[in-house]
Amino acid sequence: MKILLTGGAGYIGSHVATALVSSGHDVVCFDNLSNSDAAVMDRLEAITGTAIPLVEGDIRDRDAMRYVLQEYGAEAVIHFAGLKAVGESVAEPIKYYDNNVRGTLTLLEAMADCDVHTLVFSSSATVYGQPQYLPLDENHPTSATNPYGRTKLMIEEMLRDVAAADSKWRIAILRYFNPVGAHDSGLIGENPNGIPNNLMPFISRVAAGRLAELSVFGDDYDTPDGTGVRDYIHVVDLAEGHVAALEAVAKSGQPISTWNLGTGQGYSVLEMVEAFERINDVSVPYRIAPRRDGDVASCFASPERAARELGWKANRDLDAMCASSWRFERMLATRNAD
Ligand code: NAD
Ligand code: UD1
Repeated sequence: MKILLTGGAGYIGSHVATALVSSGHDVVCFDNLSNSDAAVMDRLEAITGTAIPLVEGDIRDRDAMRYVLQEYGAEAVIHFAGLKAVGESVAEPIKYYDNNVRGTLTLLEAMADCDVHTLVFSSSATVYGQPQYLPLDENHPTSATNPYGRTKLMIEEMLRDVAAADSKWRIAILRYFNPVGAHDSGLIGENPNGIPNNLMPFISRVAAGRLAELSVFGDDYDTPDGTGVRDYIHVVDLAEGHVAALEAVAKSGQPISTWNLGTGQGYSVLEMVEAFERINDVSVPYRIAPRRDGDVASCFASPERAARELGWKANRDLDAMCASSWRFERMLATRNAD
């Protein structure tokens, strides 16, 4: 298939691009580069041996979306483009509703204009809110505690309405748990601007000496060691989940489906620190800090539906997640030294 990736130059989009090319699909990336760098395209070429086109533009621009869909003959869209920082979404909600919700609406309009009705959407486990039971399956009630989460919930609702109104649509909603790690080549990975909000990039930067120490947000949760437990999933496994979901939804009789992409296994913050130190033979100094607002004690997936319906499950373990994150961090250090 010919597939358009909105936000394709970003962390997850770039990994999905490599997985799609290795599965024989044609890919074009569309990105406004607000949180990515066009240089990633050269690295994607080095990895895949294929020059993947990047069209610079904004998903809120309907004409630009129509142009790229038509020019490249896209048959399906995987929609990653969006803003994702929880704290920033609290401070600047309008920016989040505009970019994420209006952006998705404009994309849907352009897709309908161009008669493209196959869509895979990047949602998040954040839509489960405070877990009422674990593991979280797709039937768990949804709620949101911040504007970022609300944009994901609103978009999910929009997609359900669109699919209900017109049976031509084939939509996959993928609820990611905690994507971490990097491609084995060390050429692409997660490199957030400024101080990272998420655990794994923070740990990498402390190990590299770019940040002094990790603050562990709370050690008094109801978990085995008191620190927060999450379902970390290797980004390459996550990418393979997209290929499986796209192929399933394209030939499915159902207009809309929702799948968790997680491992089913939770690890605590201290387990992550210990694994990173052990696998990479580095030191990650940390101190215990107060809990972070909005955090839950434990969050992990039931990946059963994806296993059953997509024939997909995550295979890469915590060691592979930590080793690949560190390989990417060292590659960044070499690049910065050049
Ligand atoms: P990312 O910031 O690395 O990638 C998003 C890409 O979208 C960036 O390249 C950015 O430049 C682009 N973009 C943003 N707004 C745009 C716009 N208006 N028009 C065109 N391009 C735009 O983030 P990521 O981690 O790769 O996340 C991808 C998607 O997955 C996001 O929708 C995010 O909310 C969702 N998600 C991510 C995580 C995670 O932990 N990384 C977890 C759950 C869900
Ligand atoms: C966060 C977001 C969530 C988003 C997800 C993936 C919040 C409240 N939630 O989830 O909406 O979908 O990222 O992008 O921001 N931790 C530390 N020290 C740190 C950073 C994190 O101890 O410096 C802990 C956290 O308290 C948590 C765990 O590490 O227990 C994972 O945190 P993080 O990587 O931010 O992911 P989530 O909180 O699951």
